[in-house]
Amino acid sequence: MKRAFNFNAGPAALPLDVLKAAQAELLDFNGTGMSVMELSHRSKDYEAVHNHAQELLRKLLSIPENYDVLFVQGGASLQFSMVPMNLLGEGQTANYILTGSWSEKALEEAQKVGRVRVGASSQDKKHSYIPDLADLDLRQDDAYCHITSNNTIYGTQWKQFPDSKEVPLIADMSSDILSKPLNVSKFGLIYAGAQKNLGPSGVTVVIIRKDLLDRTPDNIATMLKYDIHASKNSMYNTPPTFGVYLLSKVLGWVERFGGVKAMEKLNEVKASMIYDAIDQSGGYYTGYAEKQDRSLMNVTFNLASEELEKKFLAEAKVAGFVGLAGHRSIGGCRASIYNAAPIESCEALREFMLEFKAKN
Ligand SMILES: Cc1ncc(COP(=O)(O)O)c(C=O)c1O
Repeated sequence: MKRAFNFNAGPAALPLDVLKAAQAELLDFNGTGMSVMELSHRSKDYEAVHNHAQELLRKLLSIPENYDVLFVQGGASLQFSMVPMNLLGEGQTANYILTGSWSEKALEEAQKVGRVRVGASSQDKKHSYIPDLADLDLRQDDAYCHITSNNTIYGTQWKQFPDSKEVPLIADMSSDILSKPLNVSKFGLIYAGAQKNLGPSGVTVVIIRKDLLDRTPDNIATMLKYDIHASKNSMYNTPPTFGVYLLSKVLGWVERFGGVKAMEKLNEVKASMIYDAIDQSGGYYTGYAEKQDRSLMNVTFNLASEELEKKFLAEAKVAGFVGLAGHRSIGGCRASIYNAAPIESCEALREFMLEFKAKN
């Protein structure tokens, strides 16, 4: 069996061990004579999987007791709506820090719900940087402050988070959750679609400080209420059971690897392999993001011309690399190297970049 060098931005590479374990128990989970997909979500066997996934995430991210961990559906994109629907009260204003297309989408959805303002934006330089913490316009009467911790398309990542004081800080961590240690208590709410660092698409993780559940208004659809999902242990309706099962497997894999600290070390090594190839190329490759804000998860770069980029991508494809084209909105090249992207893939990409430069 030949595995691709998978640099997809999401859905993305999953740990081979996880896929093998899922394959081994696909037809008979835990002696039930059924696949996990065939279990009732109200059964003890599934409930154990569900609760185990929650417990592992709590442990890996040291999530304090006063937070609930929810598994919902609709992707991170539905959170763009659920956050303001639940947390933006009438007459209040929500603060959005814009660092890329995903935060702009989050803002757009919030605008449909209530009043918003932009506390900072990196739009002036095509989102190639993260605004300085000192330049953020934070106000104590905001309903919340929303950021995107890692900008998947542009390849920038917050290295430090703002101190929003009494105002709940809300973060879309879809593309870097679990890639490094995190001080959850700095945040009111964290959300992440699973399909990059956590598992397959279909599950979205929400970590919410319990006092914020009181903000959910009565008059929104039941399925969109955080308080309902929290009070029903994310089983108000049928949860995405197979996705939660795979999530629990991925979390187990991170735990065996040594947790998020060990993961961060590996991610730094992986990213520097590719960034070094860029920086030591004498300008042949140029990084898209400003150096101090470079993402450890999405490495974005350009070559001298679009033509050369096309050639690079075409030859990379033939050599077995998948997913290296930049997002259609900005072009160029992007290597998404989430937790499960093997170091061997990064090494292979580095070698390929050096060879391509030598030949072209
Ligand atoms: C940072 C970020 N937020 C949100 C999304 C949208 O996620 P979903 O497709 O789960 O709605 C993405 C998708 O790539 C993303 O990278």
